[in-house]
Amino acid sequence: MNIILLGPPGAGKGTQSANLVEHHGMRQLSTGDMLRAAVKARTPVGIRAKEVMDRGELVSDEIVSALIDAELTAMAPETGAIFDGYPRTEAQAKSLDEILAKHARQLDHVIELEVNEDALVDRITGRFTCAKCGEGYHDRHKLPEQEGVCDKCGSTEFKRRPDDNEDTVRTRMQEYRAKTAPILPLYESRGIVRKVDGMAGIDDVTHAIDAILT
Ligand code: AP5
Ligand code: MG
Repeated sequence: MNIILLGPPGAGKGTQSANLVEHHGMRQLSTGDMLRAAVKARTPVGIRAKEVMDRGELVSDEIVSALIDAELTAMAPETGAIFDGYPRTEAQAKSLDEILAKHARQLDHVIELEVNEDALVDRITGRFTCAKCGEGYHDRHKLPEQEGVCDKCGSTEFKRRPDDNEDTVRTRMQEYRAKTAPILPLYESRGIVRKVDGMAGIDDVTHAIDAILT
C-alpha cells in the first residue's frame, strides 16, 4: 500500500502518519522531516534548504524528489509508504510517478485532509514536540499529562520548529494554494482521491483513514 497524505500546513499529515506507522506497519516519508534532518546535520542540501524553509517557500523539486527516491531505494519492497508533504508541485507529482514505476510500486490512495485554514494557524503556532522521541504536543489541545515530561519517553526537553510562526505559516499556506492544491485534479482524474474531514478530532480522523485502508 502506498498513499499520499495531502493537506495544507497543520492539516495533520504528521499526526496521522504516526498512527499509520504504528498500526499499519507503514513507513512515513516526510520530505519536511528529511529536510530538517539535513539542516541539522549541515549537509549541502540542508545548507541550501534552510533559508527557503525559514521563509516558508518550497525547496527545489530536484532536491525533494532525490530524497524520496533514495528512501524508497533503501526500503523493503513490501513495506508500504506514506508520502507526507510530497508531492507539492506538478513537477514533483510527475517525478513521483516515475520513481514509483522504477520501484515497481503503485499509488493506492491520495488522502486529502480537508481543513479550515483559520484553525490551522492556531494549530501550528501552538505545536511543539519531544526533542528526544518526536512525540507531538500542542499548547492548547494536547499537553503532556505531567507538565514538562514527555508521555511517551519521559524526556524533559521539547522543541519548536523555526518556521512555526504566523508570518511563515501564511506564506506556507499561500504556497500550498498556489502550487500544491493544483495537483489534486491529476489524482482525481485517476479516481484515487479520498477526502477526509481534517477538522474532526485526531482519533476521528484516524478512524476515517483506517476505514479507507481496510
Ligand atoms: P513540512 O514539514 O511538510 O510542513 P507542512 O506541510 O507545512 O506541514 P506541517 O508539518 O506543518 O503540518 P502537518 O500537516 O504535518 O500537521 P501536524 O500533524 O504536525 O514542510 C516544511 C517545509 O519544508 C516547507 O515549508 C518547505 O519549505 C519544505 N518542504 C517540505 N516538503 C517539501 C516538498 N515536497 N517540496 C518542497 N519543499 C518542501 O499537526 C499540526 C498541529 O495540529 C499539531 O500540534 C497536532 O497535534 C495538531 N493536530 C493535528 N490534527 C489535529 C486535529 N484533528 N485536531 C486538533 N489538532 C490537531
Ligand atoms: Mg508535518
